[in-house]
Amino acid sequence: MFLIATLVAAALLGSVTSTPNVARYDNVRLYRFFIETEEQVQMLQNLESISDSYAFMGHARQVNQNLTVMVSAHKTAEITELMSRYRLQGTVLLYNMQALIDDEQKWIMPKNTPPEDFNWSHYQHLDAINRWLDWQVSRHSQLELIEIGASYENRPLRGVKLFSNPANSAVFVECGIHAREWISPASCTFILNELLTSGRPEVQGLTQNFNWIIFPVVNPDGYRYTFEGDRLWRKNTKPYGVCRGVDLNRNFGSDWNGPGASSDPCRYDFAGGSETSEPETQALVAFLRNGVDRYRIRTYFSIHSFSQLIMFPYGYTSERVRNYDDLVAIGHEGVAAIKGKHGKKYVSGALIETIYPSSGGSSDWVYAELDVPISYTFELRGAPDSNNMFLLPADEIIPTAEELLEAFIAMLQKATQLGYYENNSVKVDL
Ligand SMILES: *[C@@H]1O[C@H](CO)[C@@H](O)[C@H](O)[C@H]1NC(C)=O
Ligand SMILES: *[C@@H]1O[C@H](CO)[C@@H](O)[C@H](O)[C@H]1NC(C)=O
Ligand SMILES: *[C@@H]1O[C@H](CO)[C@@H](O)[C@H](O)[C@H]1NC(C)=O
Ligand SMILES: [Zn+2]
Repeated sequence: MFLIATLVAAALLGSVTSTPNVARYDNVRLYRFFIETEEQVQMLQNLESISDSYAFMGHARQVNQNLTVMVSAHKTAEITELMSRYRLQGTVLLYNMQALIDDEQKWIMPKNTPPEDFNWSHYQHLDAINRWLDWQVSRHSQLELIEIGASYENRPLRGVKLFSNPANSAVFVECGIHAREWISPASCTFILNELLTSGRPEVQGLTQNFNWIIFPVVNPDGYRYTFEGDRLWRKNTKPYGVCRGVDLNRNFGSDWNGPGASSDPCRYDFAGGSETSEPETQALVAFLRNGVDRYRIRTYFSIHSFSQLIMFPYGYTSERVRNYDDLVAIGHEGVAAIKGKHGKKYVSGALIETIYPSSGGSSDWVYAELDVPISYTFELRGAPDSNNMFLLPADEIIPTAEELLEAFIAMLQKATQLGYYENNSVKVDL
């Protein structure tokens, strides 16, 4: 009786006084290291393999490399000692990750935001995005909702088709595969809105000369979890033993579980139980296998953050793709268009040369397996040494999305010039 009373009292007290059960990052620091010796490479690799108190943004691979690492509060003294002992150069970019997460709260629109109030001065919940998609479909006859399956937690995997002419080849835009990269769904809904409403001839040209298939959130379980569980979650949420979550962008059949992927379910880049093991990946793979011919998908854009990069295959091998020179040229057009819009500096190149080796990614898979010749992974703002990483201030949503749209315009024009869309109904006006 006494025990029950105590439990009830604790439960009541808990519901009144304690904060919800969400992940917290109080006094978690963000370090930027500059690796200068082989000894430092080894030390950082060991540190990553033995401790989950350090969240590495990429892996230590070689000398003359910068690396961002998030360090738990109880490791502050340890990392300070290691830096001194190994003479590792580094700066603290941020002293308290939680403060950033708290500040961001006011830039999130309420979950029940009606679609008429949806805009890009704030970040949006999954429910608000879905409601907005339904609303757009109801208002635009040429826009069609597509549902390709369900996530692990049984949320629908939803996208839209914007088809103006069956003769056009399609551009597939994949967004939100990594849950915490909120600027990705935000930019993709912005671009969809522009395609539907813009009066600019260049944007109207995109709608007339290409058919569009846009999936704003291909990892809905993970995205929801970043709002209600852990702001910095990256993977889906399927359990594997005591840990859970597969990095869906390591789960595709492009050298699955090769370099830059982990077979440990507790890691942020866990490749999954097997190739295409996850329901989200399976749905995308099934749709694309059929859709590449059916809709003539010749272009694939996968949208991520951060680091300001425009990358093409491969991520898993330094072997060059057969149309390497074309993809370099198209990437340069994207970089120039972004610079021209708001002055931001992006870098373009093959995935493995530009960011780090990675296997099992979607853009490699569609290129290698389905022969989609124009395939890019974008890393949007902030810069590689950004001190807010995935928590891009909401007042940067619109400029980031605007410059991405400019990149799409310039890159699709260049690819048109190079002859990739010869059968499209109307030529892009150059
Ligand atoms: C590392 O970062 C510094 C400072 O931002 C920069 O000057 C340097 O070019 C970077 N080095 C590499 C190899 O990226
Ligand atoms: C977007 O919505 C927010 C919240 O309702 C509002 O404060 C803001 O003025 C809106 N922005 C635009 C450009 O309409
Ligand atoms: C254009 O259509 C022709 C005839 O159907 C086809 O042989 C050719 O491969 C197509 N070209 C492209 C770039 O799709
Ligand atoms: Zn990503």
